[in-house]
Amino acid sequence: ARPWRGVIEEYRERLPFLAGVSAVTLGEGGTPLVRAHALSDRTGCEVWLKCEGVNPTGSFKDRGMTTAMTVAAAGGAKAVICASTGNTSASAAAYATAAGLTCAVLVPDGKIAMGKLSQAIAHGATLLQVDGNFDDCLTLAQKLAEAYPVELVNSVNPARIEGQKTASFEIVDALGDAPDIHCLPVGNAGNITAYWKGYGEYAVETGGLAPVATKRPRMWGFQAAGAAPIVLGHPVDHPETVATAIRIGNPASWKQALAAREESGGQIDSVTDTEILAAHRWLSAREGVFVEPASAASVAGLLKSAEAGLLDAGQTVVCTVTGHGLKDPQWALQNADGSTVEPVRVQVDAMSVAGALGLT
Ligand code: F0G
Repeated sequence: ARPWRGVIEEYRERLPFLAGVSAVTLGEGGTPLVRAHALSDRTGCEVWLKCEGVNPTGSFKDRGMTTAMTVAAAGGAKAVICASTGNTSASAAAYATAAGLTCAVLVPDGKIAMGKLSQAIAHGATLLQVDGNFDDCLTLAQKLAEAYPVELVNSVNPARIEGQKTASFEIVDALGDAPDIHCLPVGNAGNITAYWKGYGEYAVETGGLAPVATKRPRMWGFQAAGAAPIVLGHPVDHPETVATAIRIGNPASWKQALAAREESGGQIDSVTDTEILAAHRWLSAREGVFVEPASAASVAGLLKSAEAGLLDAGQTVVCTVTGHGLKDPQWALQNADGSTVEPVRVQVDAMSVAGALGLT
């Protein structure tokens, strides 16, 4: 066994555009694929969680940021820019630091989880809160990258997709083949695009490399009901959801997401905030996996689909849980009825503690 070297070194032969370029890496990827026992029991399927919150900055974005920052640095860029609902900015800030580049991030005013905001600041990014939503931020970032010497590192940058496709490789490498179904949250739709590309490249001879998988999964993407443009078939001007990471009304990779759905025989559906928070609670309390609300959309969608009879017993299902629970911990401190969880106070006294624990 040797230490994990980050996704570029681990999958270099599958990233030919980086030949001869030295990687900007923080050791991303190699994340746990955890068997979800309670979800498997509940659905009659073999359910696995791809725990992307275990990446260096706590989300899947690091897979795409290692490649995007490597390309930017190799091309002589001095500065990078991105729009973000939080995780992209945290990741860009960290990888820009590792690459020795300056980083500017545009985030929607007031709708960024505290953990993500503090990461961008800690890593020294210039953080601008825009009086608008994510879609406005992305339009602005694209304009700036066209007119000024800054590199755009959002997922419209093809290097981002190339890095993020490695998650599919890891899943097939771990399971021995592709799953039957892959569930994931959809926001700007870069990740579903990347996974589908990765599964596709592993299923056929690619770049002279033999196929690794015998099949591709059906892709099931889930948007938050208040931010579900792909499901509705039109942009949403004022997206709203507790899952701030996917609070996006006009996804940049909309067409690619539709292609993934069509080509895989999959679906893109929506889940309500109530369903998202119930899945968030289930993952914490039943599986032992703490995620941020947006990540729970994949599991909320799986449960919704199971109830609608869309699953067959015995199928292998992978749900990507995209970001760590510590990014946005406030949701864990709320009861199902919306009231705040109050800590139980005890005296410095064994009897008092035993009483509080119901041991007396
Ligand atoms: N889950 C989390 C935790 C995210 O941060 C994002 C996107 C998604 C899911 C959706 O992925 O956009 O590829 O469909 N976050 C972006 C950001 C938009 O700025 O951090 P997607």
